[in-house]
Amino acid sequence: MTTAEGRSVRWAELRPLLKPRRPQLGPTERLARAATIADLRAIARRRTPRAVFDYADGAAEREIGLRRAREAFERVELVPVALHDVSAVDPSTTILGRRSELPLAFAPTGFTRLFHPDGERAVGRVAERVGIPTALSTAGTTTIEALAEAAAGAPKWFQVYVQPDRRATGELVRRAQAAGYDALVLTVDVPVAGLRLRDVRHGLVFPPALTARTLAGIARHPSWWLGVLTTEPLRFASLEHAPTTVADLAERMFDPALAEADLAWLRELWQGPLVVKGILTADDARRVVDLGADAVVVSSHGGRQLDLAPTPLEALPSIVEAVGDRAEVHLDSGILTGADVVAAAALGARACLVGRAYCYGLMAGGERGVLRAAEILRSEVVRTMALMGATSVDELGPERVRIRQPPPGRRPATGG
Ligand SMILES: Cc1cc2nc3c(=O)[nH]c(=O)nc-3n(C[C@H](O)[C@H](O)[C@H](O)COP(=O)(O)O)c2cc1C
Repeated sequence: MTTAEGRSVRWAELRPLLKPRRPQLGPTERLARAATIADLRAIARRRTPRAVFDYADGAAEREIGLRRAREAFERVELVPVALHDVSAVDPSTTILGRRSELPLAFAPTGFTRLFHPDGERAVGRVAERVGIPTALSTAGTTTIEALAEAAAGAPKWFQVYVQPDRRATGELVRRAQAAGYDALVLTVDVPVAGLRLRDVRHGLVFPPALTARTLAGIARHPSWWLGVLTTEPLRFASLEHAPTTVADLAERMFDPALAEADLAWLRELWQGPLVVKGILTADDARRVVDLGADAVVVSSHGGRQLDLAPTPLEALPSIVEAVGDRAEVHLDSGILTGADVVAAAALGARACLVGRAYCYGLMAGGERGVLRAAEILRSEVVRTMALMGATSVDELGPERVRIRQPPPGRRPATGG
């Protein structure tokens, strides 16, 4: 080889420029190299059987709602303020009366140990370390008491599905109270199970069974299977009877008869903040706050229930206005970056919940992967605030956000 000046290049000169390629990265390096939640998602996709990845990644029916939720965040413009000292940015806030180091919480997810055997315990420990709340689902794979023990210092919320068996539901609520949970989250957008076509096509069953198809997958994902087969069996930790089929599970877990009276009943039963998750209109927000909710989560369940539901970010401003100071407004569905969190906070969300963001981390590398997800989101929140010229969450207001309209022809059919 010769240079432009015609001088020939010696190997000794080139060698320092050519970094030796390492064939295989260790888990710590792999996670450290993930710079975004999208990177963690890519690792998760490689490291878990496709049916497991798709259970988290997928959404309902045509997955239009999830796409719209994410696309709404892509239309956000954040308005900077120049010449404002941002040498100290503090992203902390108060969520449901407790300090949180970020306007962020880990959303409840069902069957979390499917992603990694450490499941909810890992998520809870990271929440404690990072200083944000974590929520345990009724469809969780760790008991109420075990999570309380694993993450004693984290603010903990118990997410309740009102089951047809009200006695069993009441018992779970009492156990959460006895174990010192800070808040009860009633999910109201699952009167019946949504249809997630990826799960149907994979023939996903709970718990995952060793069928011919899954056996074939063992060779490709040995460490995932080793985790499942060598740790405590995967089960719905809060259900009294193990469901026999997916239909049986839905019948036991969800009640199509869920109504206002159930919210009133839980309000009586639960001493502490009560959150209603799955609200998408100002009228519903007003109604549940009148019935005693301390917070609403503006959420389309990550697009996993009613596919063509309104887009949460677009619904947020009218709900913030309707609720005023009477309750906190939280938001989830489609959040993948710290900028998304900042945008929602500026539009009035006291907290953002993330589901998939930490599930990808869990699949990518267990507890370390969840921590990496939290670190990524934290650094993105802080950097975004600094670039906007905001040193505290209080300085973020609706005047700092514009939402561009989609180009004609691509206008979503739903609105806030
Ligand atoms: C794998 C998975 C399981 C979930 N299970 C529950 C659940 O049991 N209860 C519930 O209220 N929400 C559940 N959700 C919804 C989340 O709480 C949250 O609303 C949603 O994940 C937010 O969207 P995001 O995943 O785009 O962040 C689940 C979400 C995922 C991804």
